[in-house]
This record gives sequence, C-alpha cells and structure tokens, in this order.
Amino acid sequence: MKLTFLGHSAFLLESQDVTIAIDPFFSGNPAAPKDINVKPDYILVSHGHSDHVGDAVNIAKNFSSTIVSVFELANFCARQGVSVHPMHLGGSYNFGSFEVKLTLALHGSSFGGDQGPAEYLGNPCGFLIQIGGRLVYHAGDTGLFGDMRLIGDLNSVDVALLPIGDNFTMGPVDALEAVKMLNPRKVIPMHYNTWPLIHQDPTAFKKSVEQFTTAKVLIMEPGDSIEI
Ligand code: NI
Ligand code: MN
Repeated sequence: MKLTFLGHSAFLLESQDVTIAIDPFFSGNPAAPKDINVKPDYILVSHGHSDHVGDAVNIAKNFSSTIVSVFELANFCARQGVSVHPMHLGGSYNFGSFEVKLTLALHGSSFGGDQGPAEYLGNPCGFLIQIGGRLVYHAGDTGLFGDMRLIGDLNSVDVALLPIGDNFTMGPVDALEAVKMLNPRKVIPMHYNTWPLIHQDPTAFKKSVEQFTTAKVLIMEPGDSIEI
C-alpha cells in the first residue's frame, strides 16, 4: 500500500485495487505540493471545515469519485451533484476494495460562517481504513480523548495519522498521549505548519514519541510517498 502526504491533513492511499483521497484540501493550501495528480475512486472527508472538505466536490465531479462521510456532510456534498456514501460514528462498511469505520473526533463540523451563518454538518469523525492488508487511522481534527485507548485495544494500527498543530486540535504533548493509547507501529504527524498559528517542530515530536513509545515517527514533506 502506497501512502502519499499531500499537505495539511490530506493523504492519498493507493492499493492494487483502489485509490482513496482523505481530506483533499489543495486550493488555497499553502502547504499543498506543486503538482497534484489525484484521481481517487473514493474521497473520505472527516468534517465540514474548509481545510478538509477542500476540493472534494470538484475532484468527485471530475473523476466520478464517491465521497464517504457522516450522513449530514455526505448529504451536503450530494446536494452539489456528486455521488456519496453516508455513514455515521461507530459504523463500518466493506467497500470490497477497502473497509472503513468512522471513529469519534472531538471537534466541530460546519461549513462557512466567516461571512454569515454557518451550515452545521453533523459530527466530525476520524477513519479506520483497512486497505492493501494495512490498517490506517486518520484521526481527523480532534482533541485528545480517552476512547483512543479503545481504538488501540481493539485494533492493530499500522499507521496513525495524528494532528499535532495545537490551537484547533491536539498539540504535540497530547498527541504523544494519543500514541500511547493507540499503540501504532508508525505515526505520521499532520495539521501543522500550514499557517503560523499551527507552527510546530515535528522533530521534537518525533524525539518524544520515540523516547516514550515503541512507535516510529515518519516526518513527511508534502508530496512524499512511502510504501507501508
Ligand atoms: Ni477542523
Ligand atoms: Mn482543520
């Protein structure tokens, strides 16, 4: 399974059978790679904030991708003319080429609101994704919560994608506690250094995680790919 970091919280997962984009925020993203060639079969969107919905609807229109999200956000996308698969927290579904379960996230989920009323789009979520023989946990935007221990106890997580930017999500100190509960083999930090407000030093995070847990931290630059 090939994993590509596309800046902020955006990732591409590719197996022999399927290509999945997560939170594809490219337009207006100062951390997005220069050349983006993304043609996903499915797009997973964790919540309604613009730095996560991003280009999802346009990509889905261009490549006939199916958007997978919580019911309210899926319907918001469906109203814009794309195909969707609505789910909700705690539910999983086997798409054949991959399986996904929606996990809790402690955050908000609205669209707009900076220049008028926001449209509220249900609960935010994270994703547990079984793809190509690997289990990937994308936490979405979230603060630390104790049920991450349950995710760690019930699953063998190969890669955890965790926000470390602070201010809007967990910072590095709480993300270390998340790693202790999730017990993943690898950790990839996300949702940092996109803007000055969420500036963090990923090498300091790597050092602390590798000092206090058995997980390896992979610091990826936008555009980087790895085989997992
Ligand atoms: Ni958010
Ligand atoms: Mn965000």
